[in-house]
Amino acid sequence: MSSEIDSTETEEEPATSTTDSSSVTTTGESQEKIQDEWTDYEFDGETKFSVTDLDVWYGDDHALQSVSMDIPEKSVTALIGPSGCGKSTFLRCLNRMNDRIKAAEVDGTVELDGMDIYQDGTNLVELRKRVGMVFQHPNPFPKSIKDNISYGPRKHGDIDTGLFARLLGRDDTEEELELVERCLKQSALWDEVNDRLDDNALGLSGGQQQRLCIARCLAVDPEVILMDEPASALDPIATAKIEDLIDDLSEDYTVVVVTHNMQQAARISDQTAVFLTGGELAEYDDTDKIFENPESQRVEDYITGKFG
Ligand SMILES: Nc1ncnc2c1ncn2[C@@H]1O[C@H](COP(=O)(O)OP(=O)(O)O)[C@@H](O)[C@H]1O
Ligand SMILES: [Mg+2]
Repeated sequence: MSSEIDSTETEEEPATSTTDSSSVTTTGESQEKIQDEWTDYEFDGETKFSVTDLDVWYGDDHALQSVSMDIPEKSVTALIGPSGCGKSTFLRCLNRMNDRIKAAEVDGTVELDGMDIYQDGTNLVELRKRVGMVFQHPNPFPKSIKDNISYGPRKHGDIDTGLFARLLGRDDTEEELELVERCLKQSALWDEVNDRLDDNALGLSGGQQQRLCIARCLAVDPEVILMDEPASALDPIATAKIEDLIDDLSEDYTVVVVTHNMQQAARISDQTAVFLTGGELAEYDDTDKIFENPESQRVEDYITGKFG
């Protein structure tokens, strides 16, 4: 992708106060050995991602420890767990966004539709087109609503607009407008902005900006949408709209969403992965099972608010 997308889409929450050693547990968290069967999740349907023995270090900080999990396509997978347990790190491994963090070292395999995305020769532009990302703080470009959506497809050469294209007889203005309308409808924003597509996106409310970022992500025709706490900076009404949207999107896309809001995970996801202190995947199962009858004592303690 272009450097402009690169620089904006890497802006993220700064690393928060966290634990940095696997031997340390969050206050109130008990010690417990994780059983393999707690994380072996069997599901119907196709596997989109298959992650095996994934380790991530930032220098000496072992942020993810041997995480293995398969993620089913066209569904919502929630990643929950206390702050600093590696949720964002895991999410960033799914489209190799960690490559941009100098200190990050990744080991293990991540297969997308059976192809290891960490193998040499992986086209990162293509990968991030297939696996898009939405961050906690909406980060629209300081451009018009319309241009936010057509920017990616234009960069990828999928649409051609402007004076030069007109002179060459290659003007795709109509296609561009169709694309903008489709994406804004898919992101449930069309009704609110269709009369001001040329207005600057920064004039939208936070919730609208976040739905615009989702529309921008949809514009390049992804298969997977990664979301890192996409609603945590929004008010309850805007949050509800994002939650409804996630539910709609999962009919056509594979959605993986980090949230620290357990009610939200319970509401929106089909399956839930619980990460705990030290960057371990403690349990992964149907969301109902995780919230109603978890196997791990630590997961139960976390869910019932005994620590976190
Ligand atoms: N860019 C980074 N550089 C160095 N350490 C990081 C970076 N991002 C995360 N970490 C560390 O990795 C661990 C996991 O962090 P993170 O994945 O952000 O957790 P979560 O999203 O669950 O809060 C923490 O110890 C954190 O300090
Ligand atoms: Mg995080």
